[in-house]
Amino acid sequence: MKIETIFSPTNVDEMAMRGKNVVIIDILRASTTICTALHSGAREVIPTADIETATKIYSNLSADSRLLGGERQGKMIEGFNLGNSPREYTPEKVRGKTIVFTTTNGAGAIYKCRYASLGLIGSFVNMSAVVRTMVDLGGNWTILCSGREGTFSLEDSACAGMIIQKIREATEIETDDGGKTAVILYRSFRGGPLSVLKQSEHGKYLISIGFSDDLQICASVDSVPVIPAVDGMGIKLRQTGLAANG
Ligand code: MLT
Repeated sequence: MKIETIFSPTNVDEMAMRGKNVVIIDILRASTTICTALHSGAREVIPTADIETATKIYSNLSADSRLLGGERQGKMIEGFNLGNSPREYTPEKVRGKTIVFTTTNGAGAIYKCRYASLGLIGSFVNMSAVVRTMVDLGGNWTILCSGREGTFSLEDSACAGMIIQKIREATEIETDDGGKTAVILYRSFRGGPLSVLKQSEHGKYLISIGFSDDLQICASVDSVPVIPAVDGMGIKLRQTGLAANG
C-alpha cells in the first residue's frame, strides 16, 4: 500500500483527486462534526465551499427535512440553523435531516474530492474505523489535510501521522516525505491529540471564542466509530460494497 500526504488543499483541484482513494481531514472541526451528524442519524451532509451555493441547495430541498449548518470565523452564519460545533449535532436536531454544510476550510476540501474513487472523512473520533477500512480495502491512498486558510495545520497533520502510524502497525506501507513528516510530528506529541489541539493556532482561536469544550470532543479517539463517505454531492455513512481503487 502506498500513501501520499497533502498538507493543504490549496494546490489540489477536482481533477487531481479524480479516481483516487482519499481520506479528508479537518479535525477542528468539520470532519468531527460530520462524523457526529451522521452518527446522530442525519441522512446526508452536503458540503459546499461557499454560503451562496449552500443557500441555493438548501432552498431546493424539502422544508421538513433540511438544515443549514456551518461557520465563518468559527461562528454560526447568520440565518443558519446550526454552527460547526459537534455538540450541536444531536439526534434530536439532525435525525433524518439533510444538512447543507459550509465551513471555511474543511467543506471546500471535501468538495474538491467529489470525483474521488472513494472519499472518506477522517478524524480522531473515527480513527480506528478509518484505519481498518483503509487496511481492509488496500490499494493506494491520499490523505488530504484541510489545513488552515490555505496553509499547514498542526492538528490535521498530526492526525494524518496517527493514521499512517496505525496502518504501519497492521501492514506494510510506502509513504512519501509528507507522510514521514506527519508520523514524526504525531510521535513528538507525548500528551496525545488534546495537547496537539491545545497548541494549534486554530485550537487557541476556538478557545478564545468560547469553544474550549469542542477541543476535548475533537480529540476523543474512537468516540464516534462511523465511516462517512463522499457519495455524489453528499456525504453519507459508508455502504460496505464500495471498493478502493488501485
Ligand atoms: C473549517 O472548515 O475551517 C473549520 O471546521 C472551522 C471551525 O469551525 O472550527
